[in-house]
Amino acid sequence: MHKRKKLSVIGAGFVGSTCAHWAAEKELGDVVLLDVNEGSAKGKALDLFESSPIEGFDSKVLGTNNYKDTAGSDVVIVTAGLPRKPGMSRDDLLAKNAGIVKAVCQGIKEYSPNAIVIIVSNPLDAMALVAKEVLGFPRERVIGMAGVLDSARFRSFIAEETGVSVKDIQAFVLGGHGDTMVPMPRHCSVGGIPLTEFLAKEKIDALVDRTRKGGAEIVSLLQTGSAYYAPSASAVQMAEAILKDQHRILPCAAYLEGEYGYDGIFVGVLCRLGGKGLESVVELKLNNEEKSGLENSVKHVKELVTALRNLEY
Ligand code: NAI
Ligand code: 2OP
Repeated sequence: MHKRKKLSVIGAGFVGSTCAHWAAEKELGDVVLLDVNEGSAKGKALDLFESSPIEGFDSKVLGTNNYKDTAGSDVVIVTAGLPRKPGMSRDDLLAKNAGIVKAVCQGIKEYSPNAIVIIVSNPLDAMALVAKEVLGFPRERVIGMAGVLDSARFRSFIAEETGVSVKDIQAFVLGGHGDTMVPMPRHCSVGGIPLTEFLAKEKIDALVDRTRKGGAEIVSLLQTGSAYYAPSASAVQMAEAILKDQHRILPCAAYLEGEYGYDGIFVGVLCRLGGKGLESVVELKLNNEEKSGLENSVKHVKELVTALRNLEY
């Protein structure tokens, strides 16, 4: 008998519940939504399940506060943690969220030792490292979500500026998930044609700048939390690539083992995602400007990791 895939989402807040929504609607498998706040997880899961006759999806959706219900998950998306509030940097979240991610990963390790884990909680590159250390999984099975989101923001802005469908915009962002991320305009294309043939340098620079500040732009509008539609769609795109063994090339935070000259940290790079999780890191030849952008971004990630090492969590 065909066995359904199982996707668990930890944290039933804005990002987590929206992940469950996209995943169920795409019928990626049965979905478990877990939160320390049991009522919130159960209520949102039941509500989502009750939308299934209308939307016509067969995914089961279960809400819980018990890791037993997540047992045997193929993929787990971790969104538990505090979001950014106005005036707060992603780094301010470090100590609080490290403790939360540690507790969550202990639960995942016990009940889903073979899962592929996608980390969303911020500060992303540091939380992915906490997760990898607590889980003890190989790098193929612990991947951070940031690049798909940052790239989607860049692609949206390019589509808007050029008046071309988002479907025809290719663009990606490397580096850490923060203001030092490295958008790669040299590799952007509009319908396969280089972006530089559509927009002047100043225009491209303005879009790059808006992309870097994309998270903060939403925070300053919402005032009470951070983005969740595009972040959840991004995490679910990664989950889909894995659950359907698609071998997609997506920008993700991967644990580097020598790529670009870096070792033992999570940084955003192009990754091939499929049934085994991270199948390979696609290493690009960078020009001098891109190299120094990446170096600056890695420096920031390393500062975060140093701060993490000085914390009790
Ligand atoms: P939220 O506050 O709406 O949801 C967080 C949920 O985590 C809450 O429901 C809370 O009860 C739950 N939680 C707290 N401790 C827990 C634990 N030990 N076990 C299980 N659940 C626990 O926040 P939102 O907006 O959903 O954001 C979640 C995280 O994702 C934040 O850290 C945010 O900064 C991050 N984020 C990362 C992005 C990225 O690009 N990597 C993009 C957007 C958000
Ligand atoms: C974002 O980029 C807050 O990291 C989150 O929207």
